[in-house]
Amino acid sequence: MIVIHWLTALLVLAAWLTSEGGRGVAENPPMLHFTLGLSVLVLVLPRLILRLVGGAPECRPRLRIVRQELGRRMMRHRYMVKVWHEAHVSLRSMLWS
Ligand code: HEM
Repeated sequence: MIVIHWLTALLVLAAWLTSEGGRGVAENPPMLHFTLGLSVLVLVLPRLILRLVGGAPECRPRLRIVRQELGRRMMRHRYMVKVWHEAHVSLRSMLWS
């Protein structure tokens, strides 16, 4: 899975680097770009099957800590937005009622 992951990333980058736009494309199509882009598409299928069969990779401990911390901060932020929203709604109803 990790090989497919980085191969896909490299192919996307290569497809982007070999892309061309404008009028010249119709007369002289960028075949390398097409091939690289289609290879990305071809890699999607085994990737989906592998994920379906093997499941998601284990989260590494350090990554887990980062993820938990991010989750906590998101919850705190959501809570603050909710409090602000409630205060805003009550204040508005008090002022306009
Ligand atoms: C991950 C894959 C791909 C990436 C990142 C990518 C990216 C790009 C970018 C950045 C352009 C330039 C647009 C411009 O400057 O006008 C472009 C143009 C183009 N790409 Fe791709 N592409 C991908 C896959 C493909 C595939 C699979 C095909 C077809 C088999 C394709 C066909 C074209 C064509 C025909 C153009 C020229 C469009 C035009 O200006 O008329 N691309 N692509």
